[in-house]
Amino acid sequence: MAKKLLVLCMAAIMAVAALVAGCGGDQKAASDNKVLKVGTNADFAPFEFQDENGKEYQGFDMDLIRAIGEEMGYKVEISNIQFDGLIPAIQAGNIDVAITGMTINEERKQNVLFSDPYYKSGLSIIVAKDNNDIKTFQDLKGKKVAVQIGTTSAAEVNKIGGVEVKEFNSSADTFMELRAKGVDAVVNDRPVNDYYILKSGETNVKALPELLTSEDYGIAFAKNNTELQGKVNEALKKLHENGKYDEIFTKWFGTTSK
Ligand code: ARG
Repeated sequence: MAKKLLVLCMAAIMAVAALVAGCGGDQKAASDNKVLKVGTNADFAPFEFQDENGKEYQGFDMDLIRAIGEEMGYKVEISNIQFDGLIPAIQAGNIDVAITGMTINEERKQNVLFSDPYYKSGLSIIVAKDNNDIKTFQDLKGKKVAVQIGTTSAAEVNKIGGVEVKEFNSSADTFMELRAKGVDAVVNDRPVNDYYILKSGETNVKALPELLTSEDYGIAFAKNNTELQGKVNEALKKLHENGKYDEIFTKWFGTTSK
């Protein structure tokens, strides 16, 4: 009888302990079910991509937005959206933010708000290894060049003039076109080009050293959502202070951000 009572007592204590742990727990847990609806174009490694099984979202931006969500006490829900559909999706209220290696520029600022810059980038060229005609952006005149639709690469290559620009839905498609010799060059964000050469096992292409632009990536919000913009900037600042930003940076780029 005494033994039975003891077992019962212990069970009761354990139940209470579990309840306390559940309630107290991580104060930043999304206890009141706040959800951050995130849009990305997940074909832009090492910033956003899906693993070979096509499920888990990976990359620098994905880790960063999850850390931001955690800091803010929001549950992060990611959807994969075509790049040129992301700003319309924000405007339609289908997503709260877009994080997708998106360059902050004046044209986009007409339609969305941006967070503080979180990554410094620029554009570079990839050509076949045996291509000796193309060394600079000016050499793209008269050549066929693949770019992703709606990107700064598309805008900049069109500005050069006299380039036969072929626009594709994803940056993966631009690389495929180069491999198939449908174009002479690909213009894309430098870290994405570098990662492609490093990771794809493609040995017949090279990245050229010239950088065309200096671009800052920002997280985009609806024009009127200054409240969310403020919260995200504050979280970003905290992640810089507590070393988490650097940890994520080193994980994807192998160096520190400073
Ligand atoms: N930084 C460039 C831009 O803003 C390219 C971004 C493309 N991002 C992507 N996930 N495909 O236009």
